[in-house]
Amino acid sequence: MDEPQDRLVNPEAKPGDRLDYALRPKNLAELIGQEQIKENLQILVQAARQRGEPLDHVLFYGPPGLGKTTLAHVLANEMSVNIKVTAGPVIERQGDLAAILTNLRAGDILFIDEVHRLGRAVEEVLYPAMEDFALDIVIGKGPSARSIRLKLPRFTVIGATTRLALVTAPLRARFGAVYRLDYYQQEAMQAIVERAARMLEVPAHPDGVAEIARRARGTPRVALRLLRRVRDYAQVRSDGRITRQTAGQALDLLNVDALGLDDMDRRVLRTIIEKYNGGPVGLSTIAASVSEERDTIMDVVEPYLLQLGFLERTSQGRVATARAYRHLGLEPPQDGQRRLL
Ligand SMILES: Nc1ncnc2c1ncn2[C@@H]1O[C@H](COP(=O)(O)OP(=O)(O)O)[C@@H](O)[C@H]1O
Ligand SMILES: [Mg+2]
Repeated sequence: MDEPQDRLVNPEAKPGDRLDYALRPKNLAELIGQEQIKENLQILVQAARQRGEPLDHVLFYGPPGLGKTTLAHVLANEMSVNIKVTAGPVIERQGDLAAILTNLRAGDILFIDEVHRLGRAVEEVLYPAMEDFALDIVIGKGPSARSIRLKLPRFTVIGATTRLALVTAPLRARFGAVYRLDYYQQEAMQAIVERAARMLEVPAHPDGVAEIARRARGTPRVALRLLRRVRDYAQVRSDGRITRQTAGQALDLLNVDALGLDDMDRRVLRTIIEKYNGGPVGLSTIAASVSEERDTIMDVVEPYLLQLGFLERTSQGRVATARAYRHLGLEPPQDGQRRLL
């Protein structure tokens, strides 16, 4: 549990990422990449504004660190409304949600992070709130109990999740717009690093920016973290300027390789290749071999390896591809028994 928190390339938020907050784009125009989502949101916002209505409920899903929370704040800015931030595991009881809902004003955004972790009872309060802007309250107990319905102001729920499959069907159905965030392309990653370097007033050569972007796993949060470490290195070991050389040396020293893989990623690949002959091998077996939680492997390690085409998911388990062998400097098997990419 402790180890993944310490991984430099772990895309999940860490306390050390406070600075990201200041670097967060404030409006749609400042947002880099995700062009299609941006265009869709632009239309959503403009249509709602023209009609003088609150935004439809919006759900963002995708791997951590890609901008779900940022987008929720951007939408609040674009609509010029307040945003109230909470998270699935924080809303423990129906009363907690009722208290939040009754404090909302018309047009407000309620951002629920990790929306897949809402309890069942809490979700049941959320359904009529999202659909009819109504809050059903039960008064009394036993046979004399009765339910009264309170009217809520029209508001907007923005949900975020890394696990769409765990969002229940009835909850999902209540979001009018659902968007999947994907890893950023190299060009967008470079623009994000460049913007952050400018805002932090770190002199950075385009080659240095590109090097950081290449090793950041298509994930803005990781890019910002790598930038901070490279900035330190450049300051202490060089003249403070980020160049291709200082970026490369700093990241090599941190064990982040040319594609952004770290020790954990390489251990997972090596386990599949060396212990299980390239696979297929089950996720639980891999997790046990590298002493890591199954969920962490699935949420934090695998998505990027799949994206790189280093790993395939088959019904029998995970399989390492020829590309993964080559990246580790190993000879892929020639036997033709396994179908490799
Ligand atoms: N499109 C983007 N352009 C520039 N910076 C971004 C973008 N998306 C995310 N970021 C930066 O990355 C950080 C992580 O994004 P965040 O919204 O917290 O991700 P998520 O909620 O999906 O885990 C943010 O603090 C922000 O500074
Ligand atoms: Mg977030």
